[in-house]
Amino acid sequence: MAVFESTGNWISAFAPATIANVACGFDIMGFAIDEPGDIISVRKKESAGVSIAEIIGDDGKLPTGAEANTASVAVIEFLKGAGISYGVEIKIHKQIPMGSGLGSSAASPAAAVLATNELFNRPFSRKALLPFAVKGEEVASNAIHADNVGPSLLGGFTLIRGYNPIDIIHLNVPIDLACAVVLPQVEIRTSEARGMLPSDIPLKTAITQWGNVGGLVAGLQMSDYDLIGRAIQDVVAEPIRRTLIPGYESIKSAAMKAGALGCSISGSGPAVFALCKGRQTAQSVGYEMFSILDEMGVQCKLYVSSINQKGARIITT
Ligand code: HSE
Repeated sequence: MAVFESTGNWISAFAPATIANVACGFDIMGFAIDEPGDIISVRKKESAGVSIAEIIGDDGKLPTGAEANTASVAVIEFLKGAGISYGVEIKIHKQIPMGSGLGSSAASPAAAVLATNELFNRPFSRKALLPFAVKGEEVASNAIHADNVGPSLLGGFTLIRGYNPIDIIHLNVPIDLACAVVLPQVEIRTSEARGMLPSDIPLKTAITQWGNVGGLVAGLQMSDYDLIGRAIQDVVAEPIRRTLIPGYESIKSAAMKAGALGCSISGSGPAVFALCKGRQTAQSVGYEMFSILDEMGVQCKLYVSSINQKGARIITT
């Protein structure tokens, strides 16, 4: 794993990519995967304020102004919350493709707050860091949602029971739950994909969706794979957003045919995930999903992962 050359006083943290929504849980459910992930390094500086010293891996796309970047905004919020007047310098190593649906804009602020907390001798618990990271993510998506930031920072499969204040719950999952994710080389901005959605939904649609949310939570707790499979249905965002993803119907049907429990859009897309029983099944499901895009001539990446229970982690001290 790439790490910045350190002068000895940089602290670095890695935060993983995430699969948000998990079909039925729009804005309230997500889980962390092993790779890819972003690396943020921080160090104290003499002058006050937060500044970005370096960004690599973003093809020049990320804002360099401290008030506009998800990682630096999270650090600004952290310093405000802790009442610290030191300045902080930040280096950003983007490894999660932007506009991918893999929580790229969430992993950077998650890693940033974890590294900064370490830099100042951990004034906050990990959970207490979440609101700072969420404020950072808001800069990219123009909305408050913690379904990516939560699992990236805390690890595991999480449920956001409520947002005011954030009430995040760690869900137990069957030990051999695994997922395959394909990422077609298409960029979708979360803010635009959110703009496509209606602000109201019919009661009938809501009933279907919350039945599935309850079913998924129960299925995970009871290790009931059939129930998990039945519950991975999204009647709110998927019917609208699937039009943005090349070959979506074929990818999904190939995944189900190869033995996936369920398949849907990762976050706001274009990544598509399939939950599977066992890593080996996830591997074959991933291969079938990848092949569909490959046959269509669409470049894509494949990730196969268990549920990453660790979340963000310090990689140098
Ligand atoms: N829940 C968010 C959405 C996740 O679907 O818009 C975005 O990454």
